[in-house]
Amino acid sequence: MIVLESRNVSKEGLIKNISLKINKGEFVSIMGPSGSGKSTLLYILSGIESFDEGEVIIAGKDLSRIRKNELSDIRRKHIGFVFQNPELIPEVNVISNILLPALSNKREIKQRGEELLAKLGLAGYQNRSVNNLSGGEKQRVAIARALINMPDIILADEPTGALNQTASKETMELFLSLKEMGNTILMVTHDAKVASYSDRILYLVDGSIAGEFNNSNRDENEVREFLASFRW
Ligand SMILES: Nc1ncnc2c1ncn2[C@@H]1O[C@H](COP(=O)(O)OP(=O)(O)OP(=O)(O)O)[C@@H](O)[C@H]1O
Ligand SMILES: [Mg+2]
Repeated sequence: MIVLESRNVSKEGLIKNISLKINKGEFVSIMGPSGSGKSTLLYILSGIESFDEGEVIIAGKDLSRIRKNELSDIRRKHIGFVFQNPELIPEVNVISNILLPALSNKREIKQRGEELLAKLGLAGYQNRSVNNLSGGEKQRVAIARALINMPDIILADEPTGALNQTASKETMELFLSLKEMGNTILMVTHDAKVASYSDRILYLVDGSIAGEFNNSNRDENEVREFLASFRW
């Protein structure tokens, strides 16, 4: 079943004629040089940014044919977005930041927040102030926040960009466990090792898909070879 699809999507010189299909339970990476439009593409696919031409279909809905409130409903219920530069609320503690977008504010969701923290290597961090967390710790709090409503589609923009190896591995293992539960993940990354956890890699150059790699062997060296084929 396809849960996320774009058909010939274009945006004013930034995104050129992108068509992609992501199946339920698939874990796909987007790679490509800085400025190639990776973040823009994620924003378009999630309905955060508009586009000029083409169609985006998410959870069975054509984004250009639905009302604004229906879009926010889809985003709240289905999409978890991990931003490249996540902003946390400095006045409240870690767990309150995570529970901020929570749809139900019950004890069990607090427990889920704490479980997510533990899986991300931040067990016991719930009552800490976010002000003196490291960049990588902040990034993981933002990942937990994006996952609090159990979104079935996760769009993550360089979720390991500020993480060390251990934390990157923990984050990818969390993503794999979410995939096993049937969630769909589309992740931007610059890191071949991180990308090697995904099923498929799309390579963006100047706003277009320049190549695609089926990563069924989960072999980091094969990923590196694929990436090397784009070097000039
Ligand atoms: N709203 C906008 N209007 C005009 N140009 C934009 C806009 N947003 C981004 N850009 C430009 O579009 C290009 C693609 O930006 P984008 O952030 O999508 O790249 P990226 O692939 O995510 O890069 P990075 O790897 O550095 O995060 C860049 O040249 C950027 O400066
Ligand atoms: Mg980006």
